[in-house]
Amino acid sequence: MAEVTKESASAEEQDEASEAQIAVHWREEESYQPPAGFKEQANANDQAILESFAAERFPDSFVEYAELLTWDRKWDTVLDTSSPPFFKWFVGGRLNACANCVDRHLETRADKNALIWVPEPEDAEIQEITYAELHRRVNEFAALVQDFSGLQAGDRITFHMPMVPELPVSMLACARLGVVHSEVFGGFSGAACGQRMADAKSTVLVTIDTYYRNGTLIDHKVKADEAIEEARKEGIEVEKVLVWRRIPGEYHSESPMVEGRDFFVDELLEKYSGQQVEPVSLSATDTLFLMYTSGTTGRPKGAQHAVGGYLAYVTGTSKYYQDIHPDDTYWCFADIGWITGHSYIVYGPLALGTASVMYEGVPTYPDPGRPWRIAEKLGVNIFHTAPTTIRMLRKLGPDEPAKYDYHFKTMTTVGEPIEPDVWRWYYTVVGKGEAAITDTWWMTETGGFLGSTLPGLQPMKPGSCGPAALGIQLVIYDENGEEIRRGSGKAGYICVRNPWPGRMLTVWGQDQRFIDTYYARFNKDSSSKDWRDWPFMCGDGAVEAQDGYFRILGRIDDVINVAGHRLGTKELESAAIEVEEVAEAAAVPVVDEIRGKIVEMYIALKPGYEASDEVAQKVSQTIVKDIGAIARPKNVWIVPDMPKTRSGKIMRRVIAGISNFADVGDTSTLANPEVVDSIREQVQSEKRARGDVPQDLSAKEKDEIAAFGSGSE
Ligand code: PRX
Repeated sequence: MAEVTKESASAEEQDEASEAQIAVHWREEESYQPPAGFKEQANANDQAILESFAAERFPDSFVEYAELLTWDRKWDTVLDTSSPPFFKWFVGGRLNACANCVDRHLETRADKNALIWVPEPEDAEIQEITYAELHRRVNEFAALVQDFSGLQAGDRITFHMPMVPELPVSMLACARLGVVHSEVFGGFSGAACGQRMADAKSTVLVTIDTYYRNGTLIDHKVKADEAIEEARKEGIEVEKVLVWRRIPGEYHSESPMVEGRDFFVDELLEKYSGQQVEPVSLSATDTLFLMYTSGTTGRPKGAQHAVGGYLAYVTGTSKYYQDIHPDDTYWCFADIGWITGHSYIVYGPLALGTASVMYEGVPTYPDPGRPWRIAEKLGVNIFHTAPTTIRMLRKLGPDEPAKYDYHFKTMTTVGEPIEPDVWRWYYTVVGKGEAAITDTWWMTETGGFLGSTLPGLQPMKPGSCGPAALGIQLVIYDENGEEIRRGSGKAGYICVRNPWPGRMLTVWGQDQRFIDTYYARFNKDSSSKDWRDWPFMCGDGAVEAQDGYFRILGRIDDVINVAGHRLGTKELESAAIEVEEVAEAAAVPVVDEIRGKIVEMYIALKPGYEASDEVAQKVSQTIVKDIGAIARPKNVWIVPDMPKTRSGKIMRRVIAGISNFADVGDTSTLANPEVVDSIREQVQSEKRARGDVPQDLSAKEKDEIAAFGSGSE
């Protein structure tokens, strides 16, 4: 938590001060009631639902979610807690996720849209894919994966795909076979993809030649070559690369197709035209997919999600929190390469049989009116996006929404805390005061929402996600593992007290890391078989108000949240250190008006090397190559020495303070306090010269910067 030190205070008092400090900065915001008329049509419109998910009814309460699905065989046990923290849901049950998202809708909704794909070029034709059409495409690709790639249930396959309909088609086809998909965000580098392939021991890559981004066709296939190279370095030989083509019959990439390894999917599909593949009946506890995410240390972790529990949880939360009805037109403006897209573009909405909109490109292409034209044209009535997109649209087109005739009943924000001011613009201008907003707080590991408001029943409060989601028991612990009292205004580590069906099964291939990362901190007895002894640590700091609403303060681990995406400082630093001249590297966040945070790097060189723009460039390029353009540092500062503790750890909060023109906190414990002033002079004078001085940081931003990296000090 934020480190605020008072010279003469005892350690205990200091703790008091630091915890309370965060909260006193917060102003209690006013509440907004759900819009008139919304409640009558809401899926959750009766307080009784809160009763049915009350703690006393745990774990049977979650049967309500499981019953939204079609099972081949009903479960014998709702929750198996015999081997904590490896909890298992709906044990004995069998089902298939693809059958639930596609086949079961054929009887009543075959001609209704399942996916509506909006290409980025505005004059290009929008693709409306009905459930019948989706069924056809999914079956054909499943036949190909089974026959041509020879994959079967339990094998892994990696996708490196942008926002094209071939991505959900590929996911559902693999889900049909029980082949575990691992989609790597299309914007990530080839190397990042290869690293994830190696971790998953996946030998088949599905990619595409190109896609539109900001008006141009990006060469994407080249990244496949880098991925294969990287996987090879880590001992995995990629056998097949299946290449979809963005524009039928054309190939837009400089990368040559390698004979015997690379294949055009459209050519292969000719053989499988009209073929059908029976959905494989899987155990509820089998794996549906992996989604890699960053954390405190080292390599990304493969969050391994289960067929039954995950699908039940995203379907239930899509129904009650997104308020999805089959005849809605639902648009989640996120990327399927992230967990939000998996849960709330593909699996949840399709399990409910609704029409899910996908957009290929950037929000402001060709102008910031684009999203609202799409909403008007398609009759979108549920809208879902991230604060970074909202901020960008507010900045570039504050008056655009009013020009278009669309009407949202609910709107979601996800990915990072939303500033109350931005929330109010979203509510008033985008939502025209007609829509209920759900601020949904959760993470890759949790499968679905942990904290939010039920849009028909619970008032909204800007900047707070709301109370715990149905059936979720949230608790905040202080540094010593003591529970922090509701309404005390003190911040601490937010945890989930109970198991829930959406939680990941484990970290792929690393059970011990799963325990260490999420459970070790607040588990008091590692031999306990009682789930109550195993609170799940989410990794965020939070405060609970008197009314039970939670404000999320951001990550407590060394993660920088750039535009809602988690980047691990360790990954950034390891990339920087690959550069020959670099001895030490530290990554810190700088506050950015649009993206929330961006990365800044501090570098110390090996003896004998001189600081130069060229070295800084190399660091930047290596980070982009290893991780992706999203991680491109705003600045690379080459400094003579890093501020360090006596035990030699880099004090990231000190340089984060400098980069943000904020307080650097106590430097008296540094081994080399004298470097602070010289780094400040170097960095801040250069920033001033460029006119790059942030406006006053908010109290929350100051706290985040002050706390940054304190987890590793
Ligand atoms: O810090 C929280 C922030 O995003 C983190 C999870 O990131 P990721 O696993 O990439 O998943 C993003 C999509 C769920 C959390 O630990 N976060 C996510 N949603 C919110 C949020 N912070 C505040 N409010 C939210 N609504």
